[in-house]
Amino acid sequence: MTALYQVHDDVALITLNNPPVNGLGLATRQAITDGLAKANADAAVKAIVITGAGKAFSGGADIKEFGSPKALQEPNLLSVILAVENSAKPVVAAINGVCMGGGLELSLGCHYRIAAPGCNVALPEVKLGLIPGAGGTQRLPRALGVEPALNLIVSGEPVKSELLAMLPGQKLFDKMAASVESLQQEALALARSVADVRPLPLVRNLPCKHPQGDAYFQFARNMVKGMAKNFPAPAKCVDAVQAATQKKFDDGMAFERETFINLMWTSESRALRHLFMAERAASKIPDVPEDTPQRAIKSIAVIGAGTMGGGIAMNFLNAGIAVKMLEMKQEALERGVATIRKNYESQVKKGKLKQDKYEQRMSLLTTTLSYDDLKDADMVIEAVFEEMGVKEAVFKELDRVMKPGAILASNTSTLDVNKIAAFTKRPQDVIGTHFFSPANIMKLLEVVRGEKTAKDVLATVMALAKKIKKTAVVSGVCDGFIGNRMIEQYGRQGGFLLDEGCTPQQVDRAVEKFGFAMGPFRMGDLAGNDIGWAIRKRRYQEKPDMKYSKTADLLCEKGRYGQKTGAGWYDYQAGKREPIPNQEVIQMIEAHRASLGIKPRKISDEEIVQRLVFSLVNEGARLLEEGIAARAGDIDMVYLTGYGFPIHRGGPMNYANEVGLFNVVQAMNRFAQNPLDDAQFWQPAPLLAKLVAEGRTF
Ligand code: NAI
Repeated sequence: MTALYQVHDDVALITLNNPPVNGLGLATRQAITDGLAKANADAAVKAIVITGAGKAFSGGADIKEFGSPKALQEPNLLSVILAVENSAKPVVAAINGVCMGGGLELSLGCHYRIAAPGCNVALPEVKLGLIPGAGGTQRLPRALGVEPALNLIVSGEPVKSELLAMLPGQKLFDKMAASVESLQQEALALARSVADVRPLPLVRNLPCKHPQGDAYFQFARNMVKGMAKNFPAPAKCVDAVQAATQKKFDDGMAFERETFINLMWTSESRALRHLFMAERAASKIPDVPEDTPQRAIKSIAVIGAGTMGGGIAMNFLNAGIAVKMLEMKQEALERGVATIRKNYESQVKKGKLKQDKYEQRMSLLTTTLSYDDLKDADMVIEAVFEEMGVKEAVFKELDRVMKPGAILASNTSTLDVNKIAAFTKRPQDVIGTHFFSPANIMKLLEVVRGEKTAKDVLATVMALAKKIKKTAVVSGVCDGFIGNRMIEQYGRQGGFLLDEGCTPQQVDRAVEKFGFAMGPFRMGDLAGNDIGWAIRKRRYQEKPDMKYSKTADLLCEKGRYGQKTGAGWYDYQAGKREPIPNQEVIQMIEAHRASLGIKPRKISDEEIVQRLVFSLVNEGARLLEEGIAARAGDIDMVYLTGYGFPIHRGGPMNYANEVGLFNVVQAMNRFAQNPLDDAQFWQPAPLLAKLVAEGRTF
């Protein structure tokens, strides 16, 4: 049953009942119109109330219908709202909880609205690159006032019902209920009190004006442009609300419809919708059902109080979970705790954290030098030096002291999690949790599933990730996991670009214009160029035939490791992060180029971006083929949340789909002809070639 129909004396009550948020899927829409018809046909019924079961009135469109023809099938949402408006008997919306998107639009079609306090009210369509498509841009300004309505529509953020009710002159809520418990009774009473009032009031008939008129909209447009440079939807929200003030209601509705449909077709909206779905999909693991039992995690131990250990600890403290940190020396512990303190204190100073919250968090943190003190922790995360020997010693100790059933996690970024697991007699309890730096800020968490990792361990860590507000993506075991394995190819390609004629600035500028938060050379300076250097030295041993540019090695030989040494591809002033081009680095690149006998050529921004992004795509295809990543969307999530890939492009794999995989492979074939590039590098991954042959996408 997607909606319940009951009659309370002379009032019909339609209760939306489509868990979890009463999404307006086809069956629910049908149930609403059926209920309306039944109530109108029943002479004993004088008025109708629509409300929601559970914690929501309605969260809007049913995401299960996303992109399916069912979403448009009649009765579509516009028809349902018309049926409500056209009901011969008054319809009251009793808003009991979450009231978003189509849910709010449905309530705006009702003749009266009564809301409980504490309801989250929003039109979040802009977050999917759209505008509201069922009258939200035309009715909300009439009901709420132009300015507050536009703020709600452009931000997509929820606002509490009681705050909206306080707006002067608002007609969104005819009444606020005393509480959610009394809402239904109050709604039935309201329905009875208006049962005979005619004509029925309609939001569409309310006036819609802004005192400053066009000047206000011009101002709003300028504001929005500055904030949403890569997305067309926010400016379209302004257009649509302006149309509400200028056009007749039905013409405004037509304008909204046309704008909505045009936005549906933009690559930006496709990217955001892809991201929305990919984020939900990433938390699902094909062979680990959602009802897999989880282990209780009430306390965490962290080994190593360095850069990562401290940041990792903060995540749990923030979530109210006790943390015990272990180090080899007291000084290291003190340094680690001081860094955490400093971090929180700066948040307090900026007004982002209350003093009592800060103290509460710090009180959850304890330290130790002895492994025996960790034995009661439910989970331990190791973040010591990246050396197998050190990891071995640590995991043998953990195996000795930790209680049975404790989860043993490693934050290793490059080492083999299966080998680490084999240092213990309980490999089923071992897992990788690869945080990104700074670990208390970056959203991404790669959860590395070892060969023997138990399903309940995986389910527990995925749930824990949600608790600490991370976007978790599962990766199989391989060198670099998903993100770093791909970035290595991107970095190699960046080196070839320098050898062929680019400067670091030119490459960074092109990539940043494409939308990346940072180009590859600025990113190298931030992460530390010595890290890539160490990896390359390993590769020179493992894969002597692999082609590499030596330019980055020359840079490291000069000690230019990046921001931490004040100099890398760029110079940096103390305490500042602005890159300043350095003439010596340019000369070093030119001299190296000359020593290879290469005559520099001018390389277009388009070629730079394609070579860098397609190198990610090709390695991504290999990861999919090897089963390291379960879905292309998972790879996109890694890049969007951990590597600053432009959101409006939807991640590397989504971008490749947008360009067309055929075109991607064509470009790769072209790059392979370039004698200064690596033909081997551009061999399309078999999966990519196969998808092209079959005319498919990732
Ligand atoms: P770090 O050098 O800042 O901190 C390591 C800490 O571990 C030091 O404080 C050291 O005293 C302590 N330590 C070393 N051996 C120990 C032992 N046997 N027992 C207890 N404590 C010990 O290193 P960082 O950057 O925090 O890296 C830690 C781990 O995280 C490494 O595996 C690294 O690959 C990984 N990682 C690092 C990232 C980064 O950006 N720095 C990103 C993701 C992962």
